[in-house]
Amino acid sequence: MTIAITGATGQLGHAVISYLQEHNPSEKIVAVVRNIEKARQQLAGTNVEIRFGDYDEPVTLPNAFEDATKLLLVSSPEYDDPKRVVQHANAVKAARDAGVGHIFYTSIAFADESKLPLALLHLSTEYAIRTTGIPYTFIRNSLYSDVFINPGLAANVENGEIVTNTDSGQLNTVTRDDLAKGTAALLAGEGHENQIYNFVSSQTWSFDELAEVLSRVSGKEVKHRNVSFAEQVEYLQNAGLPEGAAAFTASIHETIAGGETARTSEDLKRLIGEETSLEETVRQALNAK
Ligand SMILES: NC(=O)c1ccc[n+]([C@@H]2O[C@H](COP(=O)([O-])OP(=O)(O)OC[C@H]3O[C@@H](n4cnc5c(N)ncnc54)[C@H](OP(=O)(O)O)[C@@H]3O)[C@@H](O)[C@H]2O)c1
Repeated sequence: MTIAITGATGQLGHAVISYLQEHNPSEKIVAVVRNIEKARQQLAGTNVEIRFGDYDEPVTLPNAFEDATKLLLVSSPEYDDPKRVVQHANAVKAARDAGVGHIFYTSIAFADESKLPLALLHLSTEYAIRTTGIPYTFIRNSLYSDVFINPGLAANVENGEIVTNTDSGQLNTVTRDDLAKGTAALLAGEGHENQIYNFVSSQTWSFDELAEVLSRVSGKEVKHRNVSFAEQVEYLQNAGLPEGAAAFTASIHETIAGGETARTSEDLKRLIGEETSLEETVRQALNAK
């Protein structure tokens, strides 16, 4: 069996390869990358085959996917969604032309009901895959916990507050590492044809709880202060974010407040066992024991 993985030099793709090698070190893995040198450095000492493939250069993709029994198509990080639709369509057509046996795609949680603008991009890719008739597995990922819980929280500990417009909204986020572990388990396993999995957490958290955990882990009181959309944008701009990025973050927070990320699922837990807890994620972010 040959498993090809795009986005292999990225954080998710690289972690999936590491977990796949733990599952079965003799499995043939192909890393599809647009930066061969970066991949060589990251994969030094492994038997992973490196092939060039760029979503923006469709002619490079069929060769990159040749012999792949399974393909993990990691969504592109491009911000311009119409461009990203084309990138993904290029990859899907190439998978069809190369005779790939099964396509796994990193989509977004509850894509068909989601109010996030991003969901349209992911649904369009899911439909493109379905047009090929190739068996598929849609891995509908949560927002990464790492987006909210990262070393930047040290500044919140310093200031004694986290400021958001999430209200008491619940989050079903999962760490990127747990998502990689679950994705590797799907790729290494049998079956999963024409299945959809929502890789969200089985228990949610809120920014009020995050403040409590931050206080406990750091030993310093941290409070969550809820503000309006406009105040959030102003706060983030004062902290140095460009206006567009500040408005984007505030709009994500607004959808969290509206309940977008409150739905849980056991799909991931069934594959990986215990998920990384909120407290452990905070400890890792703050590098605390
Ligand atoms: N759920 C979430 O919260 C969340 C958050 C962020 C991103 N995402 C999505 O999940 C994907 C994986 O996440 P990640 O953390 O692994 O992102 P990442 O670290 O930014 O990795 C993205 C990967 O895509 C590759 N890539 C970029 N443009 C490409 C192109 N034109 N052709 C082929 N490959 C290309 C990059 O290659 P280089 O190394 O050469 O740049 C890299 O390997 C992202 O791309 C994005 O679509 C989800």
